[in-house]
Amino acid sequence: MDSPVMNSPVMDSPVMNSPVMNSITGIRAIKSFVLRSGRMSPAQKRSYETLFPIYAIKGDEKGLIDCHSLFGNGGPLHIEIGFGMGRATAGIAIKNPGINYLGIEVHKPGIGRLLWEIEKMDIKNIRIIEGDATEIMANKIQDNSVSAFHIFFPDPWQKKRHHKRRLVKRPFTDLLAAKLLPGGYIYMVSDWEDYADWALRELNATPALVNKYPAFSESQKWRPETEFEKKARFKNHEIRELFFQKV
Ligand SMILES: C[S@@+](CC[C@H](N)C(=O)[O-])C[C@H]1O[C@@H](n2cnc3c(N)ncnc32)[C@H](O)[C@@H]1O
Repeated sequence: MDSPVMNSPVMDSPVMNSPVMNSITGIRAIKSFVLRSGRMSPAQKRSYETLFPIYAIKGDEKGLIDCHSLFGNGGPLHIEIGFGMGRATAGIAIKNPGINYLGIEVHKPGIGRLLWEIEKMDIKNIRIIEGDATEIMANKIQDNSVSAFHIFFPDPWQKKRHHKRRLVKRPFTDLLAAKLLPGGYIYMVSDWEDYADWALRELNATPALVNKYPAFSESQKWRPETEFEKKARFKNHEIRELFFQKV
């Protein structure tokens, strides 16, 4: 790709989108995140202001995303939901220059941080969408277009009354499956036992997906440690991984 500047990444013409899009109103109502008012560091703010137009788009813009024009090539698409500060995103993208990585996040300081790293490390294969992944998935990502989803340490929502806020549940997992190409995968990691068990049940119950392992996955050695994982290990939390493929 010659230039990182994106031109018209949003398609005008209506292309096939998920048929479940209109029947999942429930996933819009309950948010899986709380927007923290955490301040951006001056560097994050500067990166957010200057680099956003080059490497990022807003999730509430109309129309399906044209990934070919977004990345400047037709390479395979891997989407990370909730990349946090984006360190793992950058690490994985640098090691896999032939894959396009689309990171979704609502937290502006994290977006600023990843934008800074993209520029500093001259990473060509990451783009960012700012917004709620459930809405972005329903409205902006084409069916059968994604090779992989990475969901590293989604907010565990530990209290029972908050479980409805958990991201990895049906019908959202059905929607993710609809976006995957056959053979594509969902790779989730959690340090919260109850959420990992819950996600295992939800993913097992998603008809289009099969577990690649008898239950939890073996540790995928290629995944760099994330910011959240560092804290989890410090608290001696056990890390559980889940790896499901679209049949
Ligand atoms: C616990 S943090 C983990 C961050 C990172 N993956 C890590 O391991 O360090 C979860 C992240 O998911 C983001 N998030 C939660 N729900 C989201 C949603 N619906 N759309 C986009 N991002 C979301 C939060 O803003 C937060 O940054």
